[in-house]
Amino acid sequence: MRIAMIGSGYVGLVSGACFSDFGHTVICVDNDQRKIEALNEGLMPIFEPGLKELIVQNAADGRLSFTTDLDSAVAQADAVFIAVGTPSRRGDGFADLAYVYSAAAEIARSIRQFTVIVTKSTVPVGTGDEIERIIRETNPDADVAVVSNPEFLREGAAIKDFKHPDRIVVGLEDERARPVMTEIYRPLYLNQAPMMFTSRRTSELIKYASNSFLALKITFINEMSDLCERVGANVQEVARGMGLDNRIGAKFLNAGPGYGGSCFPKDTLALVKTAQDFDSPMRLVEATVDINEKRKRAMGRRVIAACGGDVRGKRIALLGLAFKPDTDDIRDSPAITISLSLRDAGAKLVGYDPEAMDNARSVIEGMTFAEGPYDAAIDADCIVVVTEWSRFRALDLGRLKSVMRTPVMVDLRNVYRRDEVTRHGFSYFSIGHGQQSDGTIKG
Ligand code: UGA
Repeated sequence: MRIAMIGSGYVGLVSGACFSDFGHTVICVDNDQRKIEALNEGLMPIFEPGLKELIVQNAADGRLSFTTDLDSAVAQADAVFIAVGTPSRRGDGFADLAYVYSAAAEIARSIRQFTVIVTKSTVPVGTGDEIERIIRETNPDADVAVVSNPEFLREGAAIKDFKHPDRIVVGLEDERARPVMTEIYRPLYLNQAPMMFTSRRTSELIKYASNSFLALKITFINEMSDLCERVGANVQEVARGMGLDNRIGAKFLNAGPGYGGSCFPKDTLALVKTAQDFDSPMRLVEATVDINEKRKRAMGRRVIAACGGDVRGKRIALLGLAFKPDTDDIRDSPAITISLSLRDAGAKLVGYDPEAMDNARSVIEGMTFAEGPYDAAIDADCIVVVTEWSRFRALDLGRLKSVMRTPVMVDLRNVYRRDEVTRHGFSYFSIGHGQQSDGTIKG
């Protein structure tokens, strides 16, 4: 199959690279000339494990190329994927579809033969109808089938998720698209990845329903962790006890500082707006959005409390600035909210992240950046584990303590064991571990 991928951001690049690895011929298009030049030289605009190798290999084999020339890429394609950004619109939180619609109009002008137009970007229900309308209005002769094919990959595990998906969802209204989509995903179909065909609107909603449900699941365990602290229970054991029930499942039950990233915050908000528009409010999702925002802010207060109620002039070291490990993405990262509240309270901030420091530099004003976790800890009054990168999971606690001014650790991801950390002389604060009846705290 010949595929044109419009938009060389996270989803576009990963999908393009993986499709070419399946053996399809893929042209990735972006209107950012510098990004395309860099990609042609094998330089990645994002950090994603394994992506560079996959791109360099498939480009060398001639199956993957990068261009700013949308017209020729679309003219040759059997399928054109729209993978441009859909950020939250400033002011009202609706998904901003400007990039999607302008891509649709541009694509329409370049259609030569029957082409399947596939929306991979996360778009609100009904967007496929509008894309089809724009294409027909721009070029009445264009012979197209407009399909929804949401992407469920996670940053940091994107290639694995793309190649081993739990499911492939395809929403279509024109049966001519079915064999094309089946052929594109045939390599995964052979791996038994279930392929589900639905109507276009159903498919669009599946994406929002999935992300919102996962955000709700995280928020549930986060609230449960607060209750655990009050009643003297252990949230990790509660999560395990719940997760062993197959109907609930163990994943996405890790209590933490609140979810962040480029998807959950934006998609939950967009679903809330859509639901309000259709006069069918999603109150659970509304509450999720609200609770998560407040939680991120509460984490700053938690650090202040761990420091004895006052951080003025104190040096606080933040380990992990990305919204999750294995990415350089800091969008809506809890680290940003926590940093701002600590800074406002008068703390001196030092941060370290294996990949996200360049992105953090322009966003977290007043933070100094360290060379590594031990460097960050020098003279610190408190160390906060914000993101659970593997390299923060087994720090040499003796060494860490020896360089700190005051040995206080706030572990917002529960990566350490209390007995181990306190044995090294730290005051230790974790998430969701309450004092038991005998006065001890487990976990
Ligand atoms: C999410 C979904 O998991 C993907 O399926 C989806 O394709 C993607 O959004 C998208 O719409 O593009 P992603 O945002 O990359 O993926 O990251 P997640 O691994 O889902 O984590 C999101 C946030 O939830 C992170 O801040 C993470 O720390 C937090 N989280 C996750 C928890 O606090 N606890 C958990 O148990 C799991």
